Amino acid sequence: MTMQTLAREVAGIASGRPARTYLMCPPTHFAVDYSINAWMDPGAPVDRDRAMAEWERLRATYVELGHTVHLLDPIESLPDMVFAANGATVVGGMVMGARFRHPERAHEADAHREWFQHHGYRRFTPATHVNEGEGDYVYAYRAIVAGHGFRTDPQAHNELHDAFGLPVISVQLVDPRFYHLDTALLVIDAFTAAYYPGAFDEDGLLKLKTLFPELIEATERDARAFGLNAVSDGRHVVIPHDAVDLSEKLTERGHEVVPVEMTELRKAGGGPKCCTLELRP
Ligand code: ARG
Repeated sequence: MTMQTLAREVAGIASGRPARTYLMCPPTHFAVDYSINAWMDPGAPVDRDRAMAEWERLRATYVELGHTVHLLDPIESLPDMVFAANGATVVGGMVMGARFRHPERAHEADAHREWFQHHGYRRFTPATHVNEGEGDYVYAYRAIVAGHGFRTDPQAHNELHDAFGLPVISVQLVDPRFYHLDTALLVIDAFTAAYYPGAFDEDGLLKLKTLFPELIEATERDARAFGLNAVSDGRHVVIPHDAVDLSEKLTERGHEVVPVEMTELRKAGGGPKCCTLELRP
């Protein structure tokens, strides 16, 4: 075992459970009918069958890695509902509800709330301020990094702290292409994260450097390929196949990179992580 693999093992243990539980929503009604971020072009064609095939592969990948996937029923009038990460934040079996910035997505929050109510989650904190769930709230084991600037209201960060009792580290997003924190920051394990520096202001960069002993810099090419919108279980990193620079750096450091193709869902401004809400027990 090399030092690097040993370090990975230790970090994996510190990251807790090897098997994870995720909530996903099939892209049955996926479309780009409106534009609420820099990637969405309602005039460009979207192949829903392909979106479904890519999503199915993502789900199968999680199952093959030993994880459990629960499903949320898709609703016809909500084409972005496939991005399940935005509907809530779940830590320690407790749930903080979302409140979407755009009316087009508002009802997704209700669907999530109902799902949690019917699945035995008794501690559900409804949101007063706009927060787009784990799109902007990135769980980092000892803290939650909370983005603002495009979607989540910075005032929501207080209620996030009250909901889970974890320190909340607020960072401002400055590049409209990376409008949710989970498009610019990827937490890999308790000590390691990858990030795209251009998405943050000076203050945010300092905070990230303080929080993560190991911080991997992603290139703009990685960020545009939604490489930071990857899902780590502490050992494997499920990442868009064309985030090549970051995948190489992760492999060099001893992480197991699992590439997936997400070309259709990207047209709505999302990648694997956007489709995946982790249900932390
Ligand atoms: N079209 C969606 C939106 O703009 C994409 C959401 C992506 N989700 C994420 N977790 N970054 O709201």
